[in-house]
Amino acid sequence: MSKKKILVLNGPNLNMLGKREPILYGSTTLTDIEKQMQQEWAIIDFFQTNSEANLIEKIHTADNVDFIIINPAAWTHTSVAIRDALLSVNIPFIEVHLTNIFTRESFRHKSYLSDIALAVISGFGAYGYTAAMNAAKHYIEQPII
Ligand code: DQA
Repeated sequence: MSKKKILVLNGPNLNMLGKREPILYGSTTLTDIEKQMQQEWAIIDFFQTNSEANLIEKIHTADNVDFIIINPAAWTHTSVAIRDALLSVNIPFIEVHLTNIFTRESFRHKSYLSDIALAVISGFGAYGYTAAMNAAKHYIEQPII
């Protein structure tokens, strides 16, 4: 089987991981997560932005991408536009959160993406990205549908 391409998308403030509320998000930086993922799968495009428009453009231009792993961060709870962008490209995706969003403030309990995601991983910290990568590999080799 030829190697498939996985796109890893990260929303706002995730560039601050390591410094940002370490009690909640831990000490692992986004660069650490990227390196870890690159060891797991050679063909990944790892992207972070604080601009919603940039994330939407990145989704629209996902070229030859077989799978998306996305931590939409705060846009999880606000963005119909990111939901519509993901629907427009029809690429299977896993929604990842470092924290368990359901144990946090009630405004974080609503996700605009979960019902269109293949799966959601929430609460495993940085390991959630590794778990998502393993799940993506499994799905690419044995699609559920
Ligand atoms: C987050 C959870 C979101 O509610 C929050 O806005 C984030 C990070 C997480 O990874 O736990 O920025 O997506």
